[in-house]
Amino acid sequence: ALANTRMDKGSCKRRSDLQNRCTAQSLDPHDKDKQPLKATVLQKDVGLLSGICLIIGTMIGSGIFISPKGVLLYSGAVGPCLLVWTACGVLAALGALCYAELGTMITKSGGEYPYLMEAFGPIVAYLYSWTTVMVLKPSSFAIITLSFAEYASAPFYPGCPPPPIVTKSLAAAGIIIIVSVNCLSVRLARYVQNIFTAAKLFIILIIVAAGIVLLAQGKTETFSNAFEGASSSAGSIGLAFYNGLWAYDGWNQLNFITEELRDPHRNLPLAILIGIPLVSLCYVLVNVAYFTVMTTTELLLSPAVAMTFGNRVFYPMSWIIPLFVVFSTFGSANGSCFTAGRLAYVSGREGHMVKILSYISLKRYSPMPALLFNGFLAFCYMLQADLGTLINYFSLAQWAFYGLASVALIVMRFTRKELHRPVKVPIVIAGLMALVSCYLVLAPVIDKPELEYLYCVVFILSGLLLYYPFVHLKLKWARNLMRPITTHLQLLLEVVPPETSD
Ligand code: ARG
Repeated sequence: ALANTRMDKGSCKRRSDLQNRCTAQSLDPHDKDKQPLKATVLQKDVGLLSGICLIIGTMIGSGIFISPKGVLLYSGAVGPCLLVWTACGVLAALGALCYAELGTMITKSGGEYPYLMEAFGPIVAYLYSWTTVMVLKPSSFAIITLSFAEYASAPFYPGCPPPPIVTKSLAAAGIIIIVSVNCLSVRLARYVQNIFTAAKLFIILIIVAAGIVLLAQGKTETFSNAFEGASSSAGSIGLAFYNGLWAYDGWNQLNFITEELRDPHRNLPLAILIGIPLVSLCYVLVNVAYFTVMTTTELLLSPAVAMTFGNRVFYPMSWIIPLFVVFSTFGSANGSCFTAGRLAYVSGREGHMVKILSYISLKRYSPMPALLFNGFLAFCYMLQADLGTLINYFSLAQWAFYGLASVALIVMRFTRKELHRPVKVPIVIAGLMALVSCYLVLAPVIDKPELEYLYCVVFILSGLLLYYPFVHLKLKWARNLMRPITTHLQLLLEVVPPETSD
């Protein structure tokens, strides 16, 4: 009898799913011509090249064109500055190696979410998705579109900063365009990503080539006494790392879309192994190039390092740099938007966010509600005046989650021995990542304790106030309240729950 009841419930659910699909599509269920041809799930369409472009294209944003100043300021001299850039690259590579093991062992989308779920259970995974969906993803999307807007408007305001209304409007336009592209076609979003990645690699190649020519011409003065004035305080080296690591951030992007990756067991580790060393090499060489035309003092005084380089080396074609920085930031924002949508989608699917976030467009096969939600939050953050401070405080949370994911890897070596691991990294790498993350989380708090860090922790834990009633108890009134809202949104956006294999 129990089995029958289950079956009835199952078929009932399937029937209502079908009705939902048909209402949303506004067609007769018997009309075969208009039935969707593919199952309504996110398609497995991302190949190796697009995977590499997603990693490279998100990592290279505005950081390498701006952060060199911060790294140099806190490291004190050219030698340590280049060492910090290299060390950041090694760190990103080690982190990504851990993620290669995690991603090939648990081939689910959503970045750290499924790993934390498997290793530590739903509460930690929920707190991760709560913080990342509500703050980390949309705020980094907002900050990249803001730097896009700053570079795009700068040529029209020579000698003065563009008025905030202009940059904000441009950033808003950027968010709207990127979200629309991602909603309308996953394939188009991938093309945009690939094209803009090619563009940013092109400009980096130009800068590096110019640097090599200048080095060959003997412009090596800045490199003499490379370690003079090197800072020795742990606090300022930490700050130098923060600046460098922002430029490298994005190394875990492919793990957000594992389910859409073709042959993830091969392509995920391969994309990581190609993408991250390539970016690290580019970053170090670009820095060397900067130092061929600027002394340390000049670099520190320059408002935008890459622009100064362009003005000195490429004049009268110096406009090429801001133009390509615009392309670079646009591509990075597109990558961020692409992956952010997948996290909201996965946590909606697991019932950790409202269900509508896990629905998929019937016609476009994109996680439209999740993308729109992320875009909406990014828009709100973008209007904020001091987004930079928000990011600073929450980058601690980001590193706490990277650290937790490495600990998850170690924990699962013991608790989930049976899982197949196509990639198995030495466990010391995960241990090292966990230690470094601990340092990066604790050092600034101990160095300069501020109330804002406490707010950040309070915000993360406040997620539990929603978890208990809505996720754990699944209160009936909340579901009744959500049902009509979900139905209306479903009809409006033409989205349906993803089909499951059964
Ligand atoms: N590394 C990029 C830059 O230099 C920023 C990446 C932001 N992170 C992210 N997960 N979207 O601009």
